[in-house]
Amino acid sequence: MAILELEAVEKSFPARGGPAMLAMDRISLAVREGEFLSILGPSGCGKSTLLQIAAGLMPPSAGTVRVAGRPVTGPPPEAVYVFQQYGRSLLPWRTVRDNVAFAVEHRPGISKARARELADVQLAAVALTGFGDHFPWQLSGGMQQRVALARALAAEPKIMLLDEPFSAVDALTRLDLHRLMLELWEKRGLTVVLVTHDVEEAVALSDRVALLTKRPSTIARLVETGLPRPRDAVEVRETPRFLELRHELLDALLTRHAPGDGHAA
Ligand SMILES: Nc1ncnc2c1ncn2[C@@H]1O[C@H](COP(=O)(O)OP(=O)(O)O)[C@@H](O)[C@H]1O
Ligand SMILES: [Mg+2]
Repeated sequence: MAILELEAVEKSFPARGGPAMLAMDRISLAVREGEFLSILGPSGCGKSTLLQIAAGLMPPSAGTVRVAGRPVTGPPPEAVYVFQQYGRSLLPWRTVRDNVAFAVEHRPGISKARARELADVQLAAVALTGFGDHFPWQLSGGMQQRVALARALAAEPKIMLLDEPFSAVDALTRLDLHRLMLELWEKRGLTVVLVTHDVEEAVALSDRVALLTKRPSTIARLVETGLPRPRDAVEVRETPRFLELRHELLDALLTRHAPGDGHAA
């Protein structure tokens, strides 16, 4: 069953002194409940726009978005959105614990003390026990991104919408976050939509990969990875199927952006 559906979604942005700029062109996509789906595409193709529309943070110019069958007109309660810039999404004047507690402390019937307890549970889930009293800026980038994940999890979402959450950290930390993300996804039965420009990341983590064309984006390919579950985000990279998919998707991305393909314009 589809938990998140985009139907002929279009987005154009007003352009100064000219016709509107079409960023997304009639994208239809049905995200299955419990799947891990990546949206892969070159920078500037419209990935963040698509995700923000799916999250109810931005209205589409045409088309419909549905979550659990209901049309989306604002952020749906089932979904959380994690921004790429963890540095900008965490509140610097709040401790790590209070950053996570922020997700639940405004709920009716939840005391500040209870919110902090719930925050500690989520911090444990992302292996940050003992860091609750630190401030975000005292932690490494990878740890800050784990705080952002803990805060998203505290809202007990069914759907996590992740906008390039692992792209601002070093390669080793990224692999560590990949493993953590798969573990969280498995344990909590989440539906994840991950936006990325990294082919290996998309293939290693996903059940399906939607490859976008350059702007205005459409879905060029929707590939079922068929890689095993449960899966180790590092070991899977040595399997023939992983290598085959990596080759196929890299090739598609590079061909689409070869000189003369209009990409340089
Ligand atoms: N709020 C906006 N106003 C005008 N243009 C925008 C806005 N947001 C995005 N765009 C444009 O839409 C295109 C797609 O942007 P974006 O979705 O951020 O791409 P990606 O996330 O794939 O890098 C880009 O050309 C970008 O400049
Ligand atoms: Mg983006």
